[in-house]
Amino acid sequence: MLGSGKGSNLDSIARAISSGDLLADVQLVVSDSPSAGILDVSRKWGLPSITIPASRFKTRLEPEIEEELACSLKAAGVEIVVLAGYMRMLKSPMLDAFPRAIVNIHPSLLPAFPGVDAWRQALLAGVAVTGCTVHWVDGGMDTGSVIAQREVAILDSDTPETLHARIQEAEHQLYPQVLNSLRALQ
Ligand code: GRF
Repeated sequence: MLGSGKGSNLDSIARAISSGDLLADVQLVVSDSPSAGILDVSRKWGLPSITIPASRFKTRLEPEIEEELACSLKAAGVEIVVLAGYMRMLKSPMLDAFPRAIVNIHPSLLPAFPGVDAWRQALLAGVAVTGCTVHWVDGGMDTGSVIAQREVAILDSDTPETLHARIQEAEHQLYPQVLNSLRALQ
């Protein structure tokens, strides 16, 4: 599992595994930020984790570092790479090593509102419904084909924070369910 953020999706996945609702194992947790909460969540669940060394680029890894990442994941026996809030684009070292085996969760109903702060984009656009999407990862930003979505209604009283919190609740239900059915979809 790869993430740069607080790790609430890892927490929901680990919980689903521990309750027997998700038949999977987390082989390795990877973050590009040593202070990311996802590493604390990983420690809480006793999962192995690594931090990717600092990179010259903000939005991607140097090819050789991405190559090492792919090797580490392969060596750990990873079959599906699960992204949640991983803030760098994956390029050919990872995409070639894991063809049709990388998934991401995005906080909108793609193709609407790709990119950052998708919940804020939805609020500003004045739509009545947004949600979250699990999709295959390709070389674009939030462009891979959609696997599953869950809708979240936008309330008149919503702020970006309240809306994001409800979308995350939907993510925490959707992601473990989708991961459970993934092998059949590959
Ligand atoms: C999620 O809202 C996900 O949709 C977005 O980044 C966030 C990650 O949250 N891509 P967390 O680190 O799993 O709590």
